Amino acid sequence: MCGIVGYIGNKGATHILIKSLKRLEYRGYDSSGIAILNKKLKIVKAKGKIINLEEKLKKENLNGNLGIAHTRWATHGEPSDINSHPHTSNNGLFTIVHNGILENYKEIKNNLQKEGYNFLSDTDTEVISNFIEYQYEKTKDLLESISKFLKEGKGSFSLGILFENENTIYTVKKQSPLVIGIGTNENFISSDISATLEYTKNYYILEEEEIGIVKKDNIQIFDKNKNEIKKDIYVVDFDVSAAEKNGFDHFMLKEIYEQPTAIRNTINPRVINDEIDLKIDIDAKEINKIHVVACGSAAHAGIVFKNIVESLARIPTEVYLASEFRYQNPILEENDLILVISQSGETADTLAALRHGKTNGVKTLSIVNVLGSSIARESDLNLFTWAGPEIAVATTKAYSAQISLLYLLGIKFAFQRKKITKETEKLLVGEILTIPEKIENILKISENQIKELSKKYKNNKSIFFIGRGLDYAAVLEGSLKLKEISYIHSEAYAAGELKHGTISLIEDRTLVISCITQKHIFEKTMSNLQEVKARGAESIIITNEEAYIKEINVDVDKSNLLIIPKINDYFTPSLTAIYMQLFSYYISRELGSDIDMPRNLAKSVTVE
Ligand code: G6P
Repeated sequence: MCGIVGYIGNKGATHILIKSLKRLEYRGYDSSGIAILNKKLKIVKAKGKIINLEEKLKKENLNGNLGIAHTRWATHGEPSDINSHPHTSNNGLFTIVHNGILENYKEIKNNLQKEGYNFLSDTDTEVISNFIEYQYEKTKDLLESISKFLKEGKGSFSLGILFENENTIYTVKKQSPLVIGIGTNENFISSDISATLEYTKNYYILEEEEIGIVKKDNIQIFDKNKNEIKKDIYVVDFDVSAAEKNGFDHFMLKEIYEQPTAIRNTINPRVINDEIDLKIDIDAKEINKIHVVACGSAAHAGIVFKNIVESLARIPTEVYLASEFRYQNPILEENDLILVISQSGETADTLAALRHGKTNGVKTLSIVNVLGSSIARESDLNLFTWAGPEIAVATTKAYSAQISLLYLLGIKFAFQRKKITKETEKLLVGEILTIPEKIENILKISENQIKELSKKYKNNKSIFFIGRGLDYAAVLEGSLKLKEISYIHSEAYAAGELKHGTISLIEDRTLVISCITQKHIFEKTMSNLQEVKARGAESIIITNEEAYIKEINVDVDKSNLLIIPKINDYFTPSLTAIYMQLFSYYISRELGSDIDMPRNLAKSVTVE
């Protein structure tokens, strides 16, 4: 949440900062701001998206080779010019951009007020700039003042700090991510690598409570006790084009189309002669129970995994929303496994759950997309999804890569526990390898049909999704996708549960999207569909060819039938997801919503 960038070098900082900031807009877009230090400090801020800041900058003369900038997802104080970052301290010595939440800001603010400090904004960030200034006035030692803040500040804070008397960017990382990009005669700071990938592929990834002192031609890193640290340079192996739209109207559509490649990148290196090699040291025979912790779509991927691993490997598995995990006092035992799923690897709730597991001595395995992220660094074992950078707030390719990898993990566990034979493993893996091509087929044939359906149903006030078993796991994600970007109210229900209350909401022409792919419960879900149709519901059915031809005898318009290619029932979520993603995308387009940056959301949620 919130994105920060900084530049120091010989080039015009404003242009570079705005360009980089735009690549961080997925992290929040309530307001933005920039500070340039060129002997004197100049700050420009604007409410709303970065485009508003650019408009303001046309009228300002903001020249200089050193600056910091920020895009905000509001936590303390409404989105407004005054609450936008950067924030300057009372005596003007320090100007700060901040990502995270200073939890004890009230207490620090009270103390500073007693010392005569005034506050213009409602933010916790202004408290940080004043705290550092107050310490600096006392000690005249900036590193000491920052270190003092690290020791006293509670919560999460990645910072970019300008000091009015120095051509330097000071930076701090605590809980929220921060990287330092290394250039030639220029250096960068940013919340993530993709922001500055155009300028450098070499990075220092700051660890917890580290402080960076970044000059044009020198970078020093210290721990919170001011001891200098030597770090390895992390060299990125993907290109800047991975973070660009490449002719698509939205990142989301581009990422939907990238799914076959993303899945191939995830699974192909892990399958050798149809056998799974995950290259991690884990033996499912020793696992008593799996606790999956994740948020949003990643939690839905976890539910897909639960279905598969319980069915194939017979390991009891519980899926927790990461924000609930710690507070429900979970029963954790020595031979349990905590499986953490996260695209960004930075989600605060998920990270906190991981740490809770580690503190309780439980082994942790993470499924993460972003290399070098906090979750990846802190878990005992890692499996990367290798889906490439995902920019649209609503996840598509990262989710698809997650479930593909989780299929492999479930099958591997089943084989290790001798619940399936080598032949069954090979058979199932053979099916997984067909997923990318089957997605390509769906993408080729379905767009027009989905566009028509989107036009037909765009004015619906409420859309329900139903399914059973793996189809229920799939529709949870389908419904989240729809509400995230179209703002249409939507609920996903286990098809059999609808009649226990929610069916009261079904009225004439309510749209119910049914996912019906699981053979053993096919007829049951069909009956549930009949129940809603009997109450006047309109219906879109996502099903598989075989089942459709044999079984469907409900009265449904052919244009409302979405057929997935034939595949083993375990893997249908990979195919049904594509239809639901496209439907959400096109209906949102019809409604004119801001698809890549939907209101109130952010892609990387680094606050609890
Ligand atoms: C945010 C996003 C969701 C995402 C969730 C988990 O809420 O808006 O789309 O699924 O975070 O993110 P993660 O990076 O941990 O997968």
